[in-house]
Amino acid sequence: MFERVREDIQSVFHRDPAARNAFEVLTCYPGLHAVWLHRLAHGLWGFGWKWLARLVSNFSRWLTGIEIHPGAKIGRRFFIDHGMGIVIGETAEIGNDVTLYQGVTLGGTSWNKGKRHPTLDDGVVVGAGAKVLGPFIVGAGAKIGSNAVVTKEVPPGATVVGIPGRIIVKSDDEQEAKRQAIAEKFGFDAYGVSQDMPDPVARAIGQLLDHLHSVDDRLEGMCSALKALGSDYCAKELPALRDEDFAEVKDAAGDKPAA
Ligand SMILES: CC(C)(COP(=O)(O)OP(=O)(O)OC[C@H]1O[C@@H](n2cnc3c(N)ncnc32)[C@H](O)[C@@H]1OP(=O)(O)O)[C@@H](O)C(=O)NCCC(=O)NCCS
Repeated sequence: MFERVREDIQSVFHRDPAARNAFEVLTCYPGLHAVWLHRLAHGLWGFGWKWLARLVSNFSRWLTGIEIHPGAKIGRRFFIDHGMGIVIGETAEIGNDVTLYQGVTLGGTSWNKGKRHPTLDDGVVVGAGAKVLGPFIVGAGAKIGSNAVVTKEVPPGATVVGIPGRIIVKSDDEQEAKRQAIAEKFGFDAYGVSQDMPDPVARAIGQLLDHLHSVDDRLEGMCSALKALGSDYCAKELPALRDEDFAEVKDAAGDKPAA
């Protein structure tokens, strides 16, 4: 038990630069008090002492301003910063190393019994005031922006902002890898053409590369289908693009071709 308490305190130091010492964390962090009281309430709930569990949970709400239903399943090193106004529903599930800020709701959108609240996988961060509503999964490491309203599944690693929540960062480097692959295929240097480039021209080129990738995939598929039908139409190699081919264009633009 003390081990768990110690790691709870450590998780505050990792995630709140304002934390000064263990005594202060132990006594002045309502998020921690709410988590500890929830562990007690959840245990009582599991034993079938449901009224007592609700009573403990209600006491915790009165003390901390954080309402966690005793049925909610919460992993290790869960950190609630500030806390006031948080509501976590009965069937919510929270993985390890999850962080919530004040005003977050992990709620349901229906009155049906059964799973109706979200599941937050490991390492998810939910910003102040965000509402995550419904029985879907928020993938590991995803970030929900402050005041976002999220009602659909969020892929691992994605960042979601706004109402309704929209993804602003792809979950992994898959998109980037695809762009790089297609850029290399066409002899184009895609250096710096990434999703988070603020340059609109670079973004447009990125979109073109994505489109080229889709077209390329489709052509590959058609070629395989033709081959399966006995055609050798796709046996011919595509002509390679060479730098010299662009020399005239570069000259016309007053630019010297690369040596
Ligand atoms: C969503 C969040 C995690 C994104 O952080 P990030 O990955 O560093 O992203 P950026 O700050 O570079 O922002 C990326 C884009 O999203 C926008 N954005 C960021 N947070 C947003 C939010 N909550 N709502 C709407 N748009 C948001 C930015 O304006 C930016 O838009 P642009 O590309 O058009 O300029 C962060 O902004 C956030 O909301 N964190 C919660 C923090 C919190 O609640 N703190 C409370 C402390 S008391």
